[in-house]
Amino acid sequence: MPPQINDINKALDALNKFREYTISPNHERFIFPFLCGSYFTYRKIDVIRIFAIAKTISENPTYLDVGCGYGDFLEKIREYIPNAEGIEKSAEIFYSIGKAKPEYIKIADAYNGIDKKYDIIFVGWMEPGVDYRDQISESAKCIITTLDQGLSLAAEFDGHGFDKIASWVTPSWEDINIEITNRYYSKIPNELIQKLADLRGAHNLWYVYCRPELKKRIKNALKLCLAEELEKRYEKYEFETVLDNAGYKYFERLKNPFTKYKLWDPVFDFDTKT
Ligand SMILES: C[S@@+](CC[C@H](N)C(=O)[O-])C[C@H]1O[C@@H](n2cnc3c(N)ncnc32)[C@H](O)[C@@H]1O
Repeated sequence: MPPQINDINKALDALNKFREYTISPNHERFIFPFLCGSYFTYRKIDVIRIFAIAKTISENPTYLDVGCGYGDFLEKIREYIPNAEGIEKSAEIFYSIGKAKPEYIKIADAYNGIDKKYDIIFVGWMEPGVDYRDQISESAKCIITTLDQGLSLAAEFDGHGFDKIASWVTPSWEDINIEITNRYYSKIPNELIQKLADLRGAHNLWYVYCRPELKKRIKNALKLCLAEELEKRYEKYEFETVLDNAGYKYFERLKNPFTKYKLWDPVFDFDTKT
């Protein structure tokens, strides 16, 4: 179920209360993802990976974030792709809390089609049941999606003329929410917190899809980007310390036996020669 306007007003009241006792201004984006952050967790390297892909497709790439909400992730992307745009179905999310809508976010329903062509269309964490893959496929060369395992599933574009070329795992807002709530805002004994931490998972998957003719170029761009990351030639956002302190470090392997891959470690889906 998408959030209702009433829920947003309740969340805003709760946020204002939370701000009275929070121990870090970086916590609120993981406790109130819709108002202050995003439903998927990201680092600056995610933004840089997307930029690396975009630059491979075009010198002046075009980018659309579908269902961008208040545009937290879109703002970060615009530091690299200044003409990046978003569409958001609900105008109420802005006016109900008196928040100005940036001109680069257009109020539109993706079910009515995307009115321009884009090099990259990004869909971050859609609610269960929402599915506008047909509309997006018609307008994009590359589609990057995030989905919460077991929840927002309409993010697979294989049957829509696209090939999946890479994926990686990051925590969802909820994974971090649980960690910081247990550690900093509960009276749970440390030993139990550690036991629970050992069971932690990371539930957000990032998928990169593209038209078949772009596969090789995009894969190479991502590999190059990864090589630079591994040399630690990248900066971090301030809020990334929360991820690090909660045990969700870059390339961390979680103890939970069901976690298959290291966090943020890209898995490539096709042979290099294609
Ligand atoms: C779960 S929120 C995710 C917001 C943001 N992408 C994130 O990850 O934090 C989904 C957003 O998509 C918007 N949305 C849902 N259906 C849509 C549609 N058909 N067209 C455009 N936006 C839509 C909702 O209003 C909501 O703001």
